[in-house]
Amino acid sequence: TSAFPIFSQEEVTSHRSLEDGVWVTYKGGVYDITEFVAMHPGGDKILLAAGGALEPFWALYAVHNQEHVLEMLSEYKVGELSAEDLKKQKTIKTSDPYSSEPERHPVLRINNLKPFNAEPPPEILSDSFITPSAVFFKRNHLPVPQVDPASYQLQVEGLPGGVLTLSLEELKTRFSKHTVTATLQCAGNRRSEMNKVKQVKGLNWGIAAISNATWGGARLRDVLLAAGYRPDVAQRAFHVQFEGLDKDVTGTTYGASIPLNKAVSEEGDVLLAYEMNGVDLPADHGYPVRVVVPGTVGARNVKWLGKIIVSADESSSHWQQNDYKGFSPGTDWDTVDFKSAPAIQELPSQVSHPPHQQTVLWLIAVLEEVAVKGYAWSGGGREVVRVDVSLDGGNTWQVAN
Ligand code: HEM
Ligand code: MTE
Repeated sequence: TSAFPIFSQEEVTSHRSLEDGVWVTYKGGVYDITEFVAMHPGGDKILLAAGGALEPFWALYAVHNQEHVLEMLSEYKVGELSAEDLKKQKTIKTSDPYSSEPERHPVLRINNLKPFNAEPPPEILSDSFITPSAVFFKRNHLPVPQVDPASYQLQVEGLPGGVLTLSLEELKTRFSKHTVTATLQCAGNRRSEMNKVKQVKGLNWGIAAISNATWGGARLRDVLLAAGYRPDVAQRAFHVQFEGLDKDVTGTTYGASIPLNKAVSEEGDVLLAYEMNGVDLPADHGYPVRVVVPGTVGARNVKWLGKIIVSADESSSHWQQNDYKGFSPGTDWDTVDFKSAPAIQELPSQVSHPPHQQTVLWLIAVLEEVAVKGYAWSGGGREVVRVDVSLDGGNTWQVAN
């Protein structure tokens, strides 16, 4: 009784390229998504599903399990899969790549469950200078990898000394331990406020995709020196790339890079951290080793670090090239050219007054006295120089003590 024609799996599978058309199936429906490929927010990964079922990919990229995504898909429906082929499809078990995720504290406000993205209630940020790790915001793009500390190896490539391989034990004992207290902020922090002005793409973060911790570990600079870094390297290499151990369906890892000068600078404070707030890194925050790049956007602070590559080029990762970039408010998100903008490093401020500084304040009591609480943060590793408070919508201001 369906108004749609019935197709066999074979017919669907014959549409696997932009030339022959790109067809996919989802819950027994057949969709011709050829036109949608170029508009897909997740890039041309979508072609992996061409000719087959979306379900295994959406189990991994569960950001798709939202009504607006299903509505989008429904516009491309061209038919139904034959009952016989649908039955065959159902016998292929899709295992959940998120079945071994760590326990999380229920107070976290979940933005997306798989991959896990969550922020603390904002009061926690103002009540405590250091954010307890359990409620520190969590931003994962992929399933949390399970890493055995005994067999863990960190590789360092691209320096005159050849490849340096370090076990966790060697990282802890060969290099002196440094601690740095640094704020991490996701580039998408406060996007929900932006969305009220103009709809933009990405997770709808509130004001707490930002947290502060004391990190302990080896200095990246010290490890690069041990791997043979010398000043003349800077004539041919300009970036330090990081690869995570978290992988997508194709085996591609999360990756990002930072400028070489930040990585080797004595003031750069870049850490290969194995401790967060005095204990081993929790699984969600990169156990056993993550990069901490103070003053730099969260995305470059690569977790579950597997490889460091000193290179002439930036990371070729999706998250360095086609995400985490800033554009004009007039940008059309369906045709945006990611190559036209540089990758965010130091996070640009999201508020124009005062420039380069963000302030979020909220009222906690309204009696004769008003107590105002909030957090202030200044990007790029710079200090907060002043906090101004206005109780009349910006007509008059007082400087907070
Ligand atoms: C993101 C739609 C198929 C991988 C997205 C988003 C939409 C979307 C709307 C943005 C979600 C949001 O931020 O709210 C679709 C539709 C598909 C499809 C309609 C099928 C017709 C696929 C497939 C893959 C894929 C098959 C992978 C093999 C991704 C990735 C992201 C994404 C990696 C980015 C997630 C992130 O930012 O972390 N897609 N998608 N998509 N999609 Fe798809
Ligand atoms: N590193 C890996 N390997 N995989 C990731 O998904 N997410 C990045 C960064 N490092 C990510 C990663 C992003 S976008 C941010 S904002 C921070 O980690 C978040 O760090 P947190 O989860 O410790 O708060």
